Parts: sequence; structure tokens; C-alpha cells
Amino acid sequence: MRILYLGDIVGEKTIKVLKDNLERIKKENNINVVFCNAENVSGGKGLTQKHYKELKALGIQAMSMGNHTFSKSEIIDYIDDASIARPANLNTEYGKEILYVKYNDKKIAIVNLLGRVYTYTPLDCPFKTMERLLDKIDADYIIVDFHGDATSEKKAFLYEFAGRVDAVVGSHTHTQTADEEVYNNTCFISDMGMNGPFNSILGDDRQQVIERFKTGVFTPLKVQEDNEYKINGVILDFGMTNKISRLNMKIKI
Ligand SMILES: [Fe+2]
Ligand SMILES: [Fe+2]
Repeated sequence: MRILYLGDIVGEKTIKVLKDNLERIKKENNINVVFCNAENVSGGKGLTQKHYKELKALGIQAMSMGNHTFSKSEIIDYIDDASIARPANLNTEYGKEILYVKYNDKKIAIVNLLGRVYTYTPLDCPFKTMERLLDKIDADYIIVDFHGDATSEKKAFLYEFAGRVDAVVGSHTHTQTADEEVYNNTCFISDMGMNGPFNSILGDDRQQVIERFKTGVFTPLKVQEDNEYKINGVILDFGMTNKISRLNMKIKI
């Protein structure tokens, strides 16, 4: 089974870019199923139901989130019934801590966890949370989207859970890392990267971010307008021997 897992999708215009290119990318890479991180779709923060439905209509079967899961408050009205894995180490009753997806006769469990390094949100320990979830997960394959800043925390998570999950794929930094590997049959990458405006600062408006750094005044950020987009993700090949490779494309619109 070949899965394309796209990193953080930034801005609703990226949905259109995916609409125009995803089928071709799937064909070229023999992809069976597509998942994504959707925490930054709507205006750069959160996910409205409209955009959730648009991503589903593109054939994206499952979405994981991150620190911006609840940035659009309307998500609480639809998340319980959606194909969304919310961070399992948040203390909320809203949404699923394990999302199951079926492909042919195989069942895939998707778990989303938030890292705690450089994070100021009160969170349960991602390691203890994963142990708790492993006791109850019933699936052929398990994928963890570890959403955090520190590569060390993600790497520690790999070594702790290698052989017990099929993939640990990182998100949140919006910068694809070149450290993909398979350890004890567990696919790993520190960060899958982002999908959004290429000539931007992690997807956001360049001038606004420069102003933030120069003045220390944190005005709300807009998603960068651009005519070049990056498509970042990983291709996970699950079988007797699991494999991982990076997808990194630049598309002109
Ligand atoms: Fe993000
Ligand atoms: Fe994030």
C-alpha cells in the first residue's frame, strides 16, 4: 500500500493547487491513499467545515491537525463526525484521538500528537499517551503525525516506538527535513514540510513577518499571495518491509 501524506496545508488557495495537481501526482507515484495535515488551511489557522469538505472531495481520506486544531471554533460542531485525528494529548472530549481509515481489506490507525518542547499549551505526555493508545488500537498499520518543533523530541519518539508503529511523520515546522529513514521497520521523518505559497515565510506574508521581527509587534498574519506553490509530503510504502521517500515539488500557477 502506498500512502501520500502531505505536510501542513497552508491557506485555502492551496486547495485549488491540489485540485489541479493531486490526481497527476497520485498517478505518477502510484499512490493508493492520501492523508494530510490540515491545521493551517483556513486563513492559515484552523479548518472550516467548507474547506474540510473541499479536501475530502479531492479524495483526501484522513486529516491530522496540530496546535491550530481549534483555531476556527466551528470545528467543534463537525469534528466528531469528521475524518480528522485531533491531538490525542489534548484534554478535550471533542474529536477522535484515534482515526481509523480503511483501504481494501487493511485498516490504518492515524494518531496525532503534539510535542511539548517549545510549546506553551498544557499537554499530556505524548509518550504516555501513545502507550495508552497502543493498548486499544486495533489496526493493520499505525501512523503517528507528531506535531512539534523539536527534532530531538521526534527522534526520541521514533526510538521509543520503533517496531510498534509503522510510521512517525513530523509536522508543524513547515520545513521539510532530509532525515527520512526506516528504523526497525518504522518509517520516520522529522518534518514532512508544507503545502502552500513558496515565496513566503512558512506560508505567511513575508512583509508582515519581517515587521514582526523588526518591531516585536505581533499583528495577525495573512497567508502570502504567490504564484508559486510548494507541495511537500512523504510517500509511505507499507508491506513486509516499510519504506519512506520524500515528495518535494514546486508548482507555478
Ligand atoms: Fe502548521
Ligand atoms: Fe502547528
